[in-house]
Amino acid sequence: MLRENSTKASKNKDRKIAVELIHVEKQFPGMTGPALDDVNIRIAEGEFVTVLGSSGCGKTTLIKMLNRLCEPDRGDILLFGENIREQNPVLLRRKTGYVIQQVGLFPHMTVKENISTIPKILKWEKKKTEQKVDEMLRLVALEPEEYRNRYPAQLSGGQQQRVGIARALIADPPLMLLDEPFGAIDAINREILQTELKKIQEQSGRTYLFVTHDIREAWKLGTKVLVMNQGKILQFASPQEIQAHPADEFVEELLRTADMGKGENV
Ligand SMILES: Nc1ncnc2c1ncn2[C@@H]1O[C@H](COP(=O)(O)OP(=O)(O)O)[C@@H](O)[C@H]1O
Ligand SMILES: [Mg+2]
Repeated sequence: MLRENSTKASKNKDRKIAVELIHVEKQFPGMTGPALDDVNIRIAEGEFVTVLGSSGCGKTTLIKMLNRLCEPDRGDILLFGENIREQNPVLLRRKTGYVIQQVGLFPHMTVKENISTIPKILKWEKKKTEQKVDEMLRLVALEPEEYRNRYPAQLSGGQQQRVGIARALIADPPLMLLDEPFGAIDAINREILQTELKKIQEQSGRTYLFVTHDIREAWKLGTKVLVMNQGKILQFASPQEIQAHPADEFVEELLRTADMGKGENV
C-alpha cells in the first residue's frame, strides 16, 4: 500500500505500529508473581500513551523493556517493526529518548553539556547544537542565559527534571519514554510542563510513552491510556472509551476514587 497518501484520514489508517509487545513476561528472582504477565500491546505511531497504575504494578519494568535496560524472560518486542533483540542496545538507546524520575544528569557537566550529550555523539555542528540547547531550555521554561552554564547541584529538583526532559527531547527521537518525569515538580510548574509536553508531542507526531500514577495527568496527556495492575494490562483505550466502558471492576474503582466514574465530569 502506498504511504504517500496525503489526506489525514488515510494517513491515520496507514499508521505504522511503533511499539509491539507479544507475550512479554518478566519475573524477577525472589518475586512471588511476575512483574509483567503475558503483556500484549500494539501502539500506533504518533500516539501519546500514558501508562497508569499503582506503585509496583510493573510500569517501570515495561518502559525499561523498550530500550533493553531490562530483558524479558519470554516474548518479543518490536519497535517500528524490528525485533529489538537483534538491535545493539547502545544504538537503540540513542534512538529512544528516556526520562526518569531520578533525573540522572551528569553532575560534573553543565546544563548545556548535559543537554548536548546526544548531539555530540551525533556530531552536530557546534552552532546548531547551541541554538537547539537554548531552544530546548526555553521550551522547559528555563532562561538559557541564566541556566545553561550551571551545574546540576545548582538547580532545584524540579529544574533538574526539566533539564532531563530537554536532554531527552533535543534530538527528536522517534520514541520517547518518560517514567514519572514530573514527580519532583510542584503543582503549578507541573501544569505548565504538561501543557508544553502535550504541544511538543502533537507538533512532532512522535510516539510517547509516559508513566504516571496520577489519573488526572494520564487523562490530560494521553490519546490512549494503558491501565496496569499486578503486571497485567487491564485496559488500553482512549480516556473517553475507558470512562464509557471500564474493562473491569478495578478500572471502575480507579475512576470512582478520582471522581471520574460514569456520569461525573472530569
Ligand atoms: N531489579 C529488580 N529486582 C527484583 N525485583 C524487581 C526489580 N525491579 C522491579 N522489581 C519488582 O517488580 C515489580 C514491578 O516493579 P516496577 O516495574 O518498578 O513497578 P512500578 O514502576 O509500577 O512501580 C515490583 O514488585 C518490584 O519490586
Ligand atoms: Mg516505577
